[in-house]
Amino acid sequence: MILDRFQALQDYLGSAVLGQKPLTEALLLGLLTDGHVLLEGTPGLAKTRAVKALALGVQGDFQRIQFTPDLLPTDITGAEIYRADQQAFEFQPGPVFTNLLLADEINRSPAKVQAALLEAMSERQVSAGRATRPLPELFMVVATQNPLEQEGTYPLPEAQLDRFLLHVRIEHPDAETERQILRLTRHGDRLQPPERPPLAWEDIRQAREEVATIHVAPAIEDYLVHLADATRRPGAYSNELAEWLAAGVSPRATIGLEQVCRARAWLDGMTFVTPDLVQRLLPLVYRHRLSIDFRAQARGVTADHAMDALLHAVPVS
Ligand SMILES: Nc1ncnc2c1ncn2[C@@H]1O[C@H](COP(=O)(O)OP(=O)(O)OP(=O)(O)O)[C@@H](O)[C@H]1O
Ligand SMILES: [Mg+2]
Repeated sequence: MILDRFQALQDYLGSAVLGQKPLTEALLLGLLTDGHVLLEGTPGLAKTRAVKALALGVQGDFQRIQFTPDLLPTDITGAEIYRADQQAFEFQPGPVFTNLLLADEINRSPAKVQAALLEAMSERQVSAGRATRPLPELFMVVATQNPLEQEGTYPLPEAQLDRFLLHVRIEHPDAETERQILRLTRHGDRLQPPERPPLAWEDIRQAREEVATIHVAPAIEDYLVHLADATRRPGAYSNELAEWLAAGVSPRATIGLEQVCRARAWLDGMTFVTPDLVQRLLPLVYRHRLSIDFRAQARGVTADHAMDALLHAVPVS
């Protein structure tokens, strides 16, 4: 059964990356919903390790791009190169032509370079010269960024952030997990490949079809719609929200949240979405899409505070 195989992948990711459930969960949910994932965290929190583990669990190509201040858009997309022997231009595909792409420290490159990747992400194709070239059917970007407070970086514009389905903030492990990490990596931190053969594109496609059959009741639909509405007309729901929110989420967020909830329900062997799934997964989809009023920000209000207030203010239908 295809569900078994995804649950085995979930266990494998959990054994390769200890105690970072939101991280490994987001990778799996992204794979199931055809969504890109943005990871935010300080260095050394197993971001690269997690993506490598996913690459071992899935058949396909894996590429990594380290974003630097001097990277060029064509270093991502590829470029037409003149071949003197053939007296013709030939397209040299860049690293974006892959199945799983780790875009490391995406906020170290200027906007033009970020845009080259983000366009490829939403359009699933690359235009170079006169031709447009499609990306593979399985194409998932996992980007990492330093916490925004760090200086010397180019923060992603809001419009670009919206292209990521999921945003995970990675925290430090607790003391017990840290001890287990020590033991796990003491004899080298090479990843062991999973016991089961890696998932093929056909398996992933089939799983996505099953996810699409998960039931979303009209009451859940209402709940999803009201949550989005409350970010756009916060005054109708709560004074606090009205003070805090500067702009609401896009329909992409609503669609994304429903998909992620269906994927999670499927992975848990359920056939329908429940309100508590919506509440638990909302931060993954909303965190990077809520913009907080600058005066509220100055008082220390964060997207996480706003999401708490949002879940509080919108009743379950
Ligand atoms: N939760 C964890 N489980 C297993 N290993 C871990 C965990 N956290 C950190 N490590 C180990 O810490 C080291 C750093 O991990 P990794 O290179 O994946 O971090 P990173 O988040 O990609 O860092 P950077 O931001 O510098 O790229 C590796 O040796 C990794 O095995
Ligand atoms: Mg890394």
